[in-house]
Amino acid sequence: MPEYETFQHDVLIIGSGGAGLRAAIEASAAGVSVGMVCKCLLGKAHTVMAEGGIAAALANVDDRDNWKVHFADTMRGGQYVNNWRMAELHAKEAPARVRELEAWGAVFDRTRDGRILQRNFGGHKYPRLAHVGDRTGLEMIRTLQDHGIHQGIDVYMETCIVTLLKDGDRVVGALGYDRERGHFKIFQAKAVVLATGGIGKAYKITSNSWDCTGDGHSLAYHAGATLIDMEYVQFHPTGMVWPPSVAGMLVTEGVRGEGGILTNADGKRFMFDFIPDNYKTQTADNEEEGWRYTQGDKNARRPPELLTRDHVARCIVREIKEGRGTPHGGVYLDISWIRKRLSNAEEHIKRKLPSMHHQFKALGDIDITKEPMEVGPTTHYIMGGVRVDADTQMSGVPGLFAAGECAAGINGANRLGGNSLSDLLVFGKRAGEFAAKFAKENSYGKIDNDQVDRYTREALKPFENSHGENPYSVQRDLQEVMQHNVGIVRDESEMQSALDHSKTFWERAAQVGVTGNRDFNPGWHTALDLRNLLTVAEAITHAALERKESRGAQFRDDYPEKDERFAKVNTVIRKAEDGSMEVRLEPLPEMPDYLKQVIEENR
Ligand code: FUM
Repeated sequence: MPEYETFQHDVLIIGSGGAGLRAAIEASAAGVSVGMVCKCLLGKAHTVMAEGGIAAALANVDDRDNWKVHFADTMRGGQYVNNWRMAELHAKEAPARVRELEAWGAVFDRTRDGRILQRNFGGHKYPRLAHVGDRTGLEMIRTLQDHGIHQGIDVYMETCIVTLLKDGDRVVGALGYDRERGHFKIFQAKAVVLATGGIGKAYKITSNSWDCTGDGHSLAYHAGATLIDMEYVQFHPTGMVWPPSVAGMLVTEGVRGEGGILTNADGKRFMFDFIPDNYKTQTADNEEEGWRYTQGDKNARRPPELLTRDHVARCIVREIKEGRGTPHGGVYLDISWIRKRLSNAEEHIKRKLPSMHHQFKALGDIDITKEPMEVGPTTHYIMGGVRVDADTQMSGVPGLFAAGECAAGINGANRLGGNSLSDLLVFGKRAGEFAAKFAKENSYGKIDNDQVDRYTREALKPFENSHGENPYSVQRDLQEVMQHNVGIVRDESEMQSALDHSKTFWERAAQVGVTGNRDFNPGWHTALDLRNLLTVAEAITHAALERKESRGAQFRDDYPEKDERFAKVNTVIRKAEDGSMEVRLEPLPEMPDYLKQVIEENR
């Protein structure tokens, strides 16, 4: 039998991105002992890849902004299926979280009079994204890490969790292994916070890094928590399409926020042709007005490239499908055109978008100050995840909390850019605060050794099967199927076929084999990730089949319109007693009148 090391913490945080770090800081400040498990090295979590900024109604650039406008924008962007309470808390608390980050040392770009600068982003009525060039996530993680490191948080780097441990209904810890030596570790905790980020690696083309394998979603589901809204997978309109080795890498919406335009192979700025009715009054219908908006003219309307991501991504797909795509199967994103308008354009682009400039030069030999980029949609974010209480972030399983991308609710059917970084701060803080409170009010539960033995034996099975299938083949085939059958445009027969494939993927995953030993063995790690990837892929597919309409990020070819019957429901997924995945629709809680009024006033 394998040996275990055991660690004990009042609060265990799983994940070290923005939400995990912010939760750890808050829990630790409340005086409880905190352990933080990171799949990667500390400082390498996927949050560092966030580019464009943190959405918060600071009103530094446009004094008409306030939490009400931000709330209304978030609800409109999410097609009104958001958890309204989360959207309210988020809009109200984001400014304080950004100022706090600044007080902890984050060096934001500045307005002329020295305040935090804010840039335009899709679906936000006013310039709202506090940013650090196009490296905002990196600065956020650096700051949180610097601050957190002084709080006495115990960090377990390169450690993966294979299962949550329960005592009756309650979560009492987690079982994991360290990637370096393959040693199993038991983490006993009074409260556990999941902050594991996204699921992008279930798809072939993604902006997500290797570790975004839906771990928190899957751990929570298998521990009895409810997942909601899993059909809403966000395809960011602009990922790199060339060279193939970096296809999917994020091209920040900040490019469009700084004036970048989308054109097709005929040189046509196609977004002008597709302005949805509910955005008509806010969206410019000519180049001049759109440009004035990006330059801060308060009377101008925003360019159509800054419509919501779900819409822009679908317009791009249409151009490509109808034969107006670029040589490598994308469309053009051009920021170099601003040379016609700005005498210092080259310097401006390099200052505002340094990573983009470097990324295209180094990877594609493209100078974005002089040439357009080729871009296309990339799997970027999931709006669905663990159902949590809006105020405390606790899931339906006592002692289990979730924050950030693995929790659901705030974004509804489509997230606005920049709302993710602010979500991490607002709800990371809340999760840490309430997990600490739970830990103070409860004692350690009992660790069930049989449960631990069962899971470790299961985890080591691939070593008994050295001639079994390579786990990477299963992962690759799953990514292909999700990309093509449950992608940006879906229909019943494709998704049904994805579910059929899913059955065989589970069978294949049970038979994978690895060679070598447990010391840093990526094949083994991939074998263990498969359970998470297959769980989230199945949940996405089931939910997308259940929602027989198109709304936000879910676009169904066989049901291309919104349907009132689905306007006020969540898709809800649970693990049934017999182990099968149970899917149903549940009504959304009714929005209180004062928030309905806020939406009315900000139409
Ligand atoms: O385009 C971007 O910079 C992405 C931002 C986001 O997803 O919030």
